[in-house]
Amino acid sequence: MVMNKPLVIVTRKLPEIVEARMKELFNVRLNDDDHAFSRTELINAANEADILVSTVTDKIDQEVLSNAQIKMIANYGVGVDHIDLKTARNKMIVVTNTPGVLTDDTADMAMALMLGLSRRMGEGERQLRKSGWKGWAPTGMLGMRLGGKKLGIIGMGRIGQALARRAKAFGISIHYHNRKQIEEEIHNELGATYWSSLDQMIIQMDIISMNCPHTEETHHIMSKRRLGLMQKHALLINAARGDVIDETALIETLEAKAIAGAGLDVFENEPHVNPAFFTLENVVIAPHMGSATNEARAAMGEKVIINVKTYLDGHSAPDRVIAEWI
Ligand code: DGY
Repeated sequence: MVMNKPLVIVTRKLPEIVEARMKELFNVRLNDDDHAFSRTELINAANEADILVSTVTDKIDQEVLSNAQIKMIANYGVGVDHIDLKTARNKMIVVTNTPGVLTDDTADMAMALMLGLSRRMGEGERQLRKSGWKGWAPTGMLGMRLGGKKLGIIGMGRIGQALARRAKAFGISIHYHNRKQIEEEIHNELGATYWSSLDQMIIQMDIISMNCPHTEETHHIMSKRRLGLMQKHALLINAARGDVIDETALIETLEAKAIAGAGLDVFENEPHVNPAFFTLENVVIAPHMGSATNEARAAMGEKVIINVKTYLDGHSAPDRVIAEWI
């Protein structure tokens, strides 16, 4: 659809190179001070703009979309669980995301959490900073060797596969649960084991990594019951979405030392982080930084620009999340 000087509203500050190009191409309203939009601002933006460039920090629900005039939501990020896709579909709003360009960085983050947790990096650093280190000791800060362990990946899409490649290089054996078995060539290259039963996989693993998108089906997929299936020495890693784990149950599990630890880049009620995580020694936590590299953030911007420009030029945007009517 070709529109006259359509207004593009960007809800958060994007990298300079991305904003500069957007200014050249579009009638764009940027968010110079990078404040997170209030509900009212978001509703107003959706009513005024032709295209909304959103991020994970914008809850675009039915209330926001009900009177919205927007024709397109070009999300800056791959996850779209903050957008009510059903209402967007009903209103024929095009929704796009930025797949592929943050895969390696997010997989790196999952690997970093795994290493940090298994080798107690956070605990060690805290000890040093508190000047509480008394020097090397044969039994000091003993962790778990990753080589030879079993990693169970829940969600074997792009990021799950990228994590599997990294983990394999560390001598870890790869197991996964997914809606279906992945392409045979990749499955064989990874020497992977596919588990159709998630419960059976969890019971056997030394490390579990959450790499599935957050959907109705995967909400709290790591439930209290499933946390209870994990082995006592096992680690849980999450660089996907906080909502795929029952966070209250996880805190209870960690407090009871029923698993060895958790490495978390994401939380259920971001930006609120349950303060229990701050006092638990057996966790490594990060503030949702999986895609936080200059390279990924610039490439995500490039994807947004291509999606918006293609749409405005009257073509089908390449990274459509909802494709039915186009
Ligand atoms: C993503 O791309 O989904 C990241 O988590 C940031 O939104």
